[in-house]
Amino acid sequence: MWKTRVTELLGIELPIIQGGLAYLAYAELAAAVSNAGGLGQITAMSLSSPEDLASEIDKVRSMTSSPFGVNFAIGNHGKHYEEFVEVVLSKGVEVVSVTGGNPKEFLEMFKGSGVKTLVLTAGVRHAMKAEELGADAVMVVGYEGGGHIGRDELGTMVLVPQTVDHVSIPVIAAGGIGDGRGLMAALALGAEGIEMGTRFIATKECIHAHAAYKQAIIDSSEKDTVVIKKSLGAPGRAIHNTLTDIILEMEDNNCTYEDLKDYISGVRNKAFIYNGDSEAGFGWAGQVVGIIKDEPTVEQLFSRMLAEAAAIRERWTAITT
Ligand SMILES: Cc1cc2nc3c(=O)[nH]c(=O)nc-3n(C[C@H](O)[C@H](O)[C@H](O)COP(=O)(O)O)c2cc1C
Repeated sequence: MWKTRVTELLGIELPIIQGGLAYLAYAELAAAVSNAGGLGQITAMSLSSPEDLASEIDKVRSMTSSPFGVNFAIGNHGKHYEEFVEVVLSKGVEVVSVTGGNPKEFLEMFKGSGVKTLVLTAGVRHAMKAEELGADAVMVVGYEGGGHIGRDELGTMVLVPQTVDHVSIPVIAAGGIGDGRGLMAALALGAEGIEMGTRFIATKECIHAHAAYKQAIIDSSEKDTVVIKKSLGAPGRAIHNTLTDIILEMEDNNCTYEDLKDYISGVRNKAFIYNGDSEAGFGWAGQVVGIIKDEPTVEQLFSRMLAEAAAIRERWTAITT
């Protein structure tokens, strides 16, 4: 039995959350994570319309009776998220998470609804702001994480305890976590739950990820990721390949957003993650790729993490007595 303020808040058995994963987090993965005791999520902004979101929510419901979340990356895609929020409210979804912009208006839309709200940030100040705006819990992602990360380049090890010291709502640690060691380290730092992104891509139930993308995650070492889009003020960590080299060289040469637009587009992202084009497309992933060596089911992943956590508890007892 795991009991933290995060498990209690979200009504889940394990303090493990599957991050919003643009273009990858659909019903199959979300339901697998929720069925295994964690909190699965689908990603609203990867769906093309509120109607598509409604059917994806129905699909998750048909696959699990456990709580799940809907993630909103509100800063991009040029989409208005308000209609998507209406769907979430009308469908009685238990949890939402938000990232990528000022969450003020987003959080206001959920006030009094009973939906639990999680805000993903990459800095202590933003976490404090999220608490002030009424978030139920805050997730902090360190610089080792996959996908979009903070401009301040702070690692999870530093960010988590400082955030814990500055907010009174529960803190969920993200960035660089892929096994039971990461889970226990996060709890030791004062977090009450973890969010993993990259680790879940290399699972059987992440059915939308191309085999070549999963294999690249499995084959990569901890040194095989790079941070692109720093020059745009929106850094994101991806697997190092020919395309990321081109992007980084352009950024070194002070290119504009217009110059970069084609290279960093959703089309290029999908070229790798859906079509397996590992050179002309790009795929987000964190430094944790270094410890990802296989493609288990979510259930297998969680039981392994729990066994590792149990072994660590024993080791801690042996060390401290
Ligand atoms: C492929 C990919 C896509 C992501 N897309 C989103 C997203 O749409 N919304 C979001 O909140 N976070 C997104 N993230 C961040 C994850 O939810 C999570 O916070 C991060 O992956 C944690 O770091 P880790 O990859 O080291 O586990 C993405 C991460 C990856 C790897």
